[in-house]
This record gives sequence, C-alpha cells and structure tokens, in this order.
Amino acid sequence: MERLTSPLPDQAKACAFCVEPGQEQAGIAARPACVCDAHDEALEGLVARASQVDPEGPDHPKRVGQIASILGEEVGLPAEERDLLARAAALHDIGKMALPEGVLGHRDVLDEEGRRQMERHTLLGASILAHAKAPWMRLAGIIALTHHERWDGSGYPAGLRGEDIPLAGRLVAVADVYDALRSDRPYKDAQDHEEALQRILQGDGRIAPSQFDPVILAALRRRDADIAAVPR
Ligand SMILES: [Fe+2]
Ligand SMILES: [Fe+2]
Repeated sequence: MERLTSPLPDQAKACAFCVEPGQEQAGIAARPACVCDAHDEALEGLVARASQVDPEGPDHPKRVGQIASILGEEVGLPAEERDLLARAAALHDIGKMALPEGVLGHRDVLDEEGRRQMERHTLLGASILAHAKAPWMRLAGIIALTHHERWDGSGYPAGLRGEDIPLAGRLVAVADVYDALRSDRPYKDAQDHEEALQRILQGDGRIAPSQFDPVILAALRRRDADIAAVPR
C-alpha cells in the first residue's frame, strides 16, 4: 500500500504532529510531551488568515481535510496518516495568502494572466511551508504543491501524471473539487451532493473523470454517503 509519508519513528507515534526525534534544531529540544495544542493553534491561525483572503469560505479548508481523510481511509491509509492528512489538507490553498491583490474574488472567469497568477498559489503555498519540520506541515507543503495536478497530466504547476503525483495530492484533488461544487461561489451556486458526485464521476464538460486517480474515484463512489454527511 502506498503511504503518504515515510513511516514515523516509534517515539513520534504518540504525537504524529510534532517534531520527529532526531530532527530537533538547536534550541528546540526533543519534546517529551505532546505539543498538539500548539499545533492546533498554529493550524487554526493559518486557516483563519487564509480564509480572510479566500472567497472559498472559512469552512472549505477543514471540510476538504475531512473528505480527504474519508477517501484516505477507503484506500487503506492507517489512522495516524489520516490524521496527518486531515490537518495538512486544510492548508491546501494557503498560497492564496501570498497572491497579489485583485487576483481573488472575481465574479467572472479569470483571463489568461489572472489564471496564470492564480495557479501560482501552489508554488507559493509550498514555499510558505518549505522549511517546516513537523510531519503534518511537511505533508501540507506537498499537498499545497500538488493538489491541482491531474492524473491525466493536464494539471499544474508541473503537469505531473498518474502516480508521479503524491497520493496526498491525488486525494485532496478529489476532495477539493467535490467541496467546491457543493459550495456557493461569487460566480456560481452550490450543487447538491448527487449532482456534485455525478459531475466528478461522469464529467460535465469542465471536469473530466480522467483528471482523477480512478482508485480514488471508486473510493468516492463507495463512501459517498459518509462524504455527504460531512457537516456544512
Ligand atoms: Fe488550490
Ligand atoms: Fe480549495
């Protein structure tokens, strides 16, 4: 089974979100006790700040994490990796914070230059998280970079294809598109669960099923009731 990250050392398993033993920096001691509260605060702060600039709404990032975690369970990820994924996925669009003013919040479809600018949120997000040591933040950097890559190679920023895209990016790609379809946006109304599901599974002219990992689409089909039940 493909894993999200290299296996965590035993000592880190009690708290998969903290600095891994052996990776302490000068002045930052190995942590005998869990510091998850501090990580929770960091996550809340980052998500809150990102949500202020992102018209996708304050609850979208966390729902994407919850949905990706359900899909992750269905493809066989162990519980500790699903916890990492749920947190990390909430930061998928953190790079939008670093976009120039005026790129976000348009009612109309972006022009070529606007689209090019918007696509940079993947690279910007990865650079914001590039120096993180905590496993969940490192995973968040991978997700920020790869959640718009597509299985068929038509995505960005690198045009990766198939399993060259990290599993976390492939899981979040499905969760992100599903939640975006279910949400109101300045330029469109929300769709109900069944319609969103069918647009992903059958395509709708803009979305093509070929852009997603078929194994994850099968997981979406099998777990659609659980995903529909994620609170909105
Ligand atoms: Fe994004
Ligand atoms: Fe998103």
